[in-house]
Amino acid sequence: MKQKVVVYRELPEQVLSFLKNKFNVSYFPNLDDGNYQDFLSELQTAQGLLGASMKIDQEILDQAPQLKVISNISVGYDNLNLEELKKRGILGTNTPGVLDDTTADTVFGLLLATARRMPELDHYVKSGRWEGTKGEDLFGVDVHHKTLGIIGMGSIGRAVAKRARFGFDMEILYHNRSRNEEAENKFDATYCTLDDLLKKSDFVCLMVPHTPQTEKMIGEREFNLMKESAIFINGSRGKNVDEAALIKALQEKKILRAGLDVFEIEPIEKDNPLLSLPDVVTLPHIGSATNETRASMAKLAAENMAIALEGKTPPNIIR
Ligand code: DGY
Repeated sequence: MKQKVVVYRELPEQVLSFLKNKFNVSYFPNLDDGNYQDFLSELQTAQGLLGASMKIDQEILDQAPQLKVISNISVGYDNLNLEELKKRGILGTNTPGVLDDTTADTVFGLLLATARRMPELDHYVKSGRWEGTKGEDLFGVDVHHKTLGIIGMGSIGRAVAKRARFGFDMEILYHNRSRNEEAENKFDATYCTLDDLLKKSDFVCLMVPHTPQTEKMIGEREFNLMKESAIFINGSRGKNVDEAALIKALQEKKILRAGLDVFEIEPIEKDNPLLSLPDVVTLPHIGSATNETRASMAKLAAENMAIALEGKTPPNIIR
């Protein structure tokens, strides 16, 4: 008898067919309150769970006594409790690599848009306010030849460094748990302490995973160390930043601007002050969200699932 895989994200047709050839698939492309109970009852007899972002808590795991594999369609796995999975003998997998360039494009785009105030100026033009000569009040700041500090030099951090170094002649500083030879040799990146990076960078770009160690790693102290002209970019996870401290730093002009793809609570709450601060550019957590890359991620997640449920070792185990 085929094993059962519960899918809680919309998948490209080809990926769904691939899974259906191998498994009995329960498909919930739009999981919501209306079908959540059905989802839980399908989990009772499932060996695999495939999807993205949803917090897989005790309640869900208790409903899935036969679960062997959780395949995340994401590189981040802060939705999983690894200790708990280990206790229950459940394997977790993710999708690193295939999203590096796309996510770096988003992060760099956000950096440019924030420095040059593109969303604000787009609104200015479309709302019919462009009448006379453009004054200094519309000016942005240069990106090229400035100093970019990257916190977290993983593969996405390196893809950001590559764009900055070769496309924009930027000087790269980085802080990471360990030195990264590739970044140093290929992109002339200079390793430094977090405090030095914060003090010297024109752009501070946060690219670390969310773990108990990185939770709120950028807070009041860190914003106070940054230059008053600094632009802060977060392409990692919202919980890595003390959002109240970020709001305060922007309101008190401790930093110049922020470009954010991620937030403490997602979707962002309607009354979050970040939404009304003019010096903030926001995106709805779309780092890896292109058609091509999301398809590659879904394919990789399905392959991870197939290999793991065949009893072999998939290449992308989360440890
Ligand atoms: C990831 O893959 O972790 C991206 O942030 C999308 O969730």
